[in-house]
Amino acid sequence: MARHFLNLADLSTGEIRALINRAAALRRDPLTDTLSGRTLALLFSKPSTRTRIALEAGMAQLGGQALYLGRDSLQLGRGESISDTARVMSSMVDAVAIRTHAHAEIAEFAAHSDAPVINALSERAHPCQLLADLMTWQERCGAADFDAPVAWIGDGNNVCNSWLEASSMFGFELRVACPEGFEPDAERLRAAGASIVRDVGEAVRGAAVVNTDTWVSMGDDPARAAAFAGYQVTAELLDQAAEGVILLHCLPAYRGSEVDETVLDDARSAVWQQAENRLHTHKALLELLLR
Ligand code: CP
Ligand code: NVA
Repeated sequence: MARHFLNLADLSTGEIRALINRAAALRRDPLTDTLSGRTLALLFSKPSTRTRIALEAGMAQLGGQALYLGRDSLQLGRGESISDTARVMSSMVDAVAIRTHAHAEIAEFAAHSDAPVINALSERAHPCQLLADLMTWQERCGAADFDAPVAWIGDGNNVCNSWLEASSMFGFELRVACPEGFEPDAERLRAAGASIVRDVGEAVRGAAVVNTDTWVSMGDDPARAAAFAGYQVTAELLDQAAEGVILLHCLPAYRGSEVDETVLDDARSAVWQQAENRLHTHKALLELLLR
């Protein structure tokens, strides 16, 4: 049975810690042949910069190769079923990373795939992102135990859902500041015991990590951005958080919306290191699932 990574909890906390250690080793020594002769297919229905490059460059640096397959370039785009596609693709490649508007499609693909399936972002979750986020938190704060409060500011979206999952797994406090009607998944919120607040200052007070993301995710109606006035992350907001706070943003960012024009360049911003860590953590994930 293939091992899939559809949600963060498909790995144990011990495996995530080990993966982060391996990612740090791969940064020091990036070229190996651990996945020599192996192939990863990327089946993407949405644009991507970081995830695509991390997986494609990562496979090359591990001695394997990657195939980028836009959904509409496949027969899938003209009606071949997910299950048939999964059976065929998984007989030819060693793993498949899927980016889709419909999380159920990834689950269906995985159910019919003999090869590991990686959730490379769905409308419900972005577990790959969390691997890099946790690594960055650990590196910047020395937070080996992930036990400090974290604030999420803005939309209760896919990335927020995966942070809730991390909160349940590692036990840190997560405070979500979002407008009414833009809350994250209720079940994940309950499982994490996370609080919803409407005041951004209340969310960041004492927080070691301040997190945000776009107000308009891929596939969302751009008009929803109007609901987020007052939810912008600024240097002044970071001033209200704990000493040593870091700012995380999965990127792409929209300066002037969820972040102001300059806060990504603030000394407390860890977003560039966070983006680079996508490469190292995804290489470690590929090794874990494929070896
Ligand atoms: N953060 C992230 O997943 O970025 P991309 O959409 O560029 O892959
Ligand atoms: N929430 C964003 C994340 C992009 C990496 C989206 O789904 O578009």
